[in-house]
Amino acid sequence: MYWLGIDIGTGGSRALLVDEQGTVKAAFTAAHEDMRMDKPMWAEQRPENWWDAAQEAIKGVLKQAGAKGDDVKAIGLSGQMHGLVLLDKDDNVIRPSLIWCDQRSQPQVDFINQTVGKANVVAHTANPMLTGFTLPKLLWVRDNEPQNFEKAAKFLLPKDYVRLKLTGEHCTEVSDASGTGLLDVVTRRWSREMVERLKLDTGLLPDLKESVEVTGTITKAAAKATGLKEGTPVVGGGGDQAASGIGNGIVHPGPVSCTIGTSGVVFAYLDRPQYDPTGRVHTFCHAVKGKWHVMGVTQGAGLSLQWVRNQLMPGATYDQMTAEAATSPVLSHGLYWLPYLMGERTPHLDAIARGGWIGLTAKHTRADLLRAVVEGVSYSLKDCLGIIEQMSVEVKNVRASGGGANSIFWRQMLADIFGIGISTLENKEGSAYGAALLAMTGSGLYKSVEETCDAVIREADCMIPTVHESAAYSRGYEVFSVLYPTLKPIYGLIHQLA
Ligand code: XUL
Repeated sequence: MYWLGIDIGTGGSRALLVDEQGTVKAAFTAAHEDMRMDKPMWAEQRPENWWDAAQEAIKGVLKQAGAKGDDVKAIGLSGQMHGLVLLDKDDNVIRPSLIWCDQRSQPQVDFINQTVGKANVVAHTANPMLTGFTLPKLLWVRDNEPQNFEKAAKFLLPKDYVRLKLTGEHCTEVSDASGTGLLDVVTRRWSREMVERLKLDTGLLPDLKESVEVTGTITKAAAKATGLKEGTPVVGGGGDQAASGIGNGIVHPGPVSCTIGTSGVVFAYLDRPQYDPTGRVHTFCHAVKGKWHVMGVTQGAGLSLQWVRNQLMPGATYDQMTAEAATSPVLSHGLYWLPYLMGERTPHLDAIARGGWIGLTAKHTRADLLRAVVEGVSYSLKDCLGIIEQMSVEVKNVRASGGGANSIFWRQMLADIFGIGISTLENKEGSAYGAALLAMTGSGLYKSVEETCDAVIREADCMIPTVHESAAYSRGYEVFSVLYPTLKPIYGLIHQLA
């Protein structure tokens, strides 16, 4: 018997089959189309492409395991958060999705703050309103494409569009809903106040469940399209970060995770909602019933390397890039990288911040450029960890996952820059694995998510900070920390002219 986890990421959709012991039996990824970026800081993807990729991934993973639909007991979904999928009354996609890193909606954030009041936004949703969240994206469509907004009967988040195609249900769950800007994160209910103050139709909202609850079952059409069995239950699952938190066993105080995918996230478990007073990290519902989490987000983590590859080293693999980076010394001969390719969330909350190398000289090589990128992303993740520590959240060690965690070079650098042990798990799958564990729990194999994680998650190794490198990086971090405030006025000038 297997449990299927499906993660609708940014770069691709990944399906995993996990057995009763929590061992991954097969995995299959289907790539997505590139993000469409019509203007700087805009980012769109087509939901139909996610569904095509999800079908390919499901069929691929079943084939790889030699499994039939009958062998799958339950399914869990995970996906990139915050993206706006707008559907008409017949469930047709009205326009491409404005995805998580799209930054066009600052005017709508300002409008929400004026209309609802900044303090009320925090009181109703537990977070300040940000361009990254779904609500300002929805209002952007209302303001700029009224003909599209008029047709809208429902909005969904990315993984929940795939859920609709699989089950016919319009449903989300609390962890992903937390990133819409419309959820009362404390009571785990849609915020009536936000909806009313912004004159939105409540009919637009999908149903809301806890992450382990069954949200529907595979329809006949979906069974035909995927090879799954009609009637197989699909549980709520989680936003990719909450699901990754489950996949990394972040269900008790102490271990914290650091996930390096397209974005980079440092994620900690909370027994009760706890906040950074200036909202630089998000306080969201966990995929564990009655629990929460706090996370800091670097918008351009893996994205930074992806951008360098696409622009300067087409065809290179990430292994080749990190191997070349490793030939440059610690601190990259005084070169720094600002990963703000899509603005930044933690800690700057700045939609118009821009990326770049600072400190170039004629001596620098491509290896220095690459190393500086990995260092800059890691400093930015340290910014995230630092705020979580300032909130007095317990941080015993950090578990690394996502594509970036496959690199020993990067994990050692994280240990040196964070000044803390970086462990990996026997299973580094993160989000898709977490989704499968939520399916396991939802189908009753274990009583709770905590019990599931405690039964199947094991640490594999741990990289310890090295004294000399750590000392050099703490000086490097001091330099990195003054770059953003120094450049901030310049970002304003660039924005005015753009
Ligand atoms: C989290 C976030 C990203 C996306 C894409 O708030 O925006 O991590 O979920 O992975």
